[in-house]
Amino acid sequence: MTRVLVIGACGQLGSELTLALRKLHGENNVIASDIREGNIELMKGPFETLNAMDKEGMVRIVKKHNITQIYHLAAVLSAKGEENPGFAWELNMGSLSNVLEIAKEYNLDKIYWPSSIAVFGPNTPVDNTPQQCIMDPNTVYGITKQSGERWCEYYFNHYGVDVRSLRYPGLIGYKTLPGGGTTDYAVDIYYKALQEGEFECFLSANSALPMMYMDDAVKATIDLMQATPNDIKIRSSYNVSAISFTPAEIAASIKKHLPEFKITYKPDFRQKIADSWPNSINDSAARTDWGWHHQFDLDKMTEEILKGLKNMKI
Ligand code: SER
Repeated sequence: MTRVLVIGACGQLGSELTLALRKLHGENNVIASDIREGNIELMKGPFETLNAMDKEGMVRIVKKHNITQIYHLAAVLSAKGEENPGFAWELNMGSLSNVLEIAKEYNLDKIYWPSSIAVFGPNTPVDNTPQQCIMDPNTVYGITKQSGERWCEYYFNHYGVDVRSLRYPGLIGYKTLPGGGTTDYAVDIYYKALQEGEFECFLSANSALPMMYMDDAVKATIDLMQATPNDIKIRSSYNVSAISFTPAEIAASIKKHLPEFKITYKPDFRQKIADSWPNSINDSAARTDWGWHHQFDLDKMTEEILKGLKNMKI
């Protein structure tokens, strides 16, 4: 029987992925865990308080619930990581190392760990960035994701741990807010458009970044984890892409629904981070190996989010 532990379940991705996993594997077979409690919907199912750096606590939960798979989502993101690089390294690497060691020691069936476009850097080709290319990440977050990819591949090659990973682009969901990322503006902008009719963007008008709507991110994750092991040819992390847009383009998409909406630009330290990341990603390996395809383009996403936020009475 599949018994899942989600670490970092109350974050932006975890809140939606955990619910999808509960639908798939059964409400009581998916244990959410986080350092803090999550939203009402998430807390309806099983929950354990866990600091991802606490290996003993993790072992206790794995044994108590007979866990067979771990989705390890807890991490300090790119912008936040620059405020305290030492802590970001400790949390991101320490927690991954705990999960991989536990998978090895307790013979777990499968592990999921997200990587990111932050593994790329200033010398990476910016357009249609290939799976394999120069990677010189210059944020501590990107360094931890790059190192993490090496560790995942190592645990697969040396210990047979079935670990799978995606290099997510910026994830855009409106149900739970992100925290501390460079791509977070693309979530914030929808809230501000509805609440204030205007938005001051911390990136410049033409900074293109790869992005993905949350429903597609959840689908990509579940498709990857459901694929047969032989179809998974890449054990570091797969490029996945959906859409790519600039702040000016997302603003134009919002204006189709809210013609009065105004955007202004005041780039801060996050501009440099965005400039070091690709504009668009080549994900042909994911499409060929396990059939990845996305469903949401920019306008479809805008429509969904504005409708969803209005229903939430934002
Ligand atoms: N969305 C993340 C960030 O901006 C990238 O993985 O930090």
